[in-house]
Amino acid sequence: MHAVVIVAAGRGERLGVEHGPKQYRLLGDKSVLQNTIDCFTSHDDIETVQVVIHREDGELYDNAVSQHPKLLPPVFGGATRQESCKAGLNGLPEDCDKVLLHDAARPFVSKDVITRVLEGIERGTCALPASAIADTIKQADYKGEVSKTIPRDQLFLAQTPQGFVFSEILAAHQKAENEYSGEFTDDAAIAEWVGMKVRLVEGDRGNFKITTKQDLAAAGELSMSMSAAGADIRTGSGYDVHILGPGDAVILCGIKIPHTQALQGHSDADVGLHSLTDALLGTIGAGDIGSHFPPSDPKWKGAQSDQFLAHAAELVSKNGGTITNLDVTIVCEAPKIGPHRDVMRARIAGICNIDDLSRVSVKATTNEKVGFIGREEGIAALATATVSFGGKPGV
Ligand code: CTP
Ligand code: MG
Repeated sequence: MHAVVIVAAGRGERLGVEHGPKQYRLLGDKSVLQNTIDCFTSHDDIETVQVVIHREDGELYDNAVSQHPKLLPPVFGGATRQESCKAGLNGLPEDCDKVLLHDAARPFVSKDVITRVLEGIERGTCALPASAIADTIKQADYKGEVSKTIPRDQLFLAQTPQGFVFSEILAAHQKAENEYSGEFTDDAAIAEWVGMKVRLVEGDRGNFKITTKQDLAAAGELSMSMSAAGADIRTGSGYDVHILGPGDAVILCGIKIPHTQALQGHSDADVGLHSLTDALLGTIGAGDIGSHFPPSDPKWKGAQSDQFLAHAAELVSKNGGTITNLDVTIVCEAPKIGPHRDVMRARIAGICNIDDLSRVSVKATTNEKVGFIGREEGIAALATATVSFGGKPGV
């Protein structure tokens, strides 16, 4: 059985304490800690995840982390990272074989890094993911004067998760607690101190630790671009036409506009809302307006079309979709649409529960007096709906 201990009991002082510890800050809609946990629960070879939290963070933890069958109840950490790691190891079941120790503040650890670390562990040898240093290294004194340039080809940046045989690292931690007065900043250093071998495996520069405000901003951007990449964005299109006949007003996009003729149809013949309804249904493969509201059914005679659109929007939402854009073009010689454009947009947004009006567009064009529309025998509308079905980090 392979397990991971995720240490999350720090205070995040270098980032600033005003918004609480960094592991509970949000990246998109998920906490840093939840992102970190997900990297491990989604790895097939990890069966148990033990999180170590600060004594005062129980409520923050409950709000930030969802239950998972691999996740043990959290244990409390100590005043140093070393103490927190030890507390996490003590929380693990005895039949644990290999164990990884990981910083909660590294939410972008990849499957490949976890696999390489697990594979690098042997009896007497622990595995440390590390990356080469790209910058030139200088040694300077306290006045900021450089005393020498240090060759960097044998220097590496240590990351986590660091991997160990469980019984060996537990014993090493116990020995360090009893016999070492200083503090180790990572677990590989404890392993070195007890004489174990430490083997480097390839780390990943994306597996950075959130330490400063700049790191948190970079993490936010990275998580946004990852969720955009993983998002399921779908578009649907719709088209409708109704003929003009006797009357004194047309209803377009839910708005009644005085006119010399009226649109004829079974319902209120609102081509704008009908085409939008079809566009939305098109994003979930749910047929068309006719299959939901058959014109043969007397129930829909004279019906207001806002209920058709509201139904389609509700179906999209029930399927996990969020409407990101609605765009409708009305093709008619008259009446003029421009003066009604913004009320129409607001009406569509209201029907579909869209808060941001910039996501709803109403356009109009004439048919240059040609064809049935040009002869004012009918009005057509074309619509496109764009719907996002969520996204997940691609790590
Ligand atoms: N950590 C811990 N217990 C401690 C100190 C640190 O569990 N007593 C954890 C942190 O929560 C973090 C990881 O160890 O996930 C790496 O530590 P660091 O980046 O230093 O985090 P903080 O100690 O929280 O930050 P700071 O040093 O800026 O206060
Ligand atoms: Mg610290």
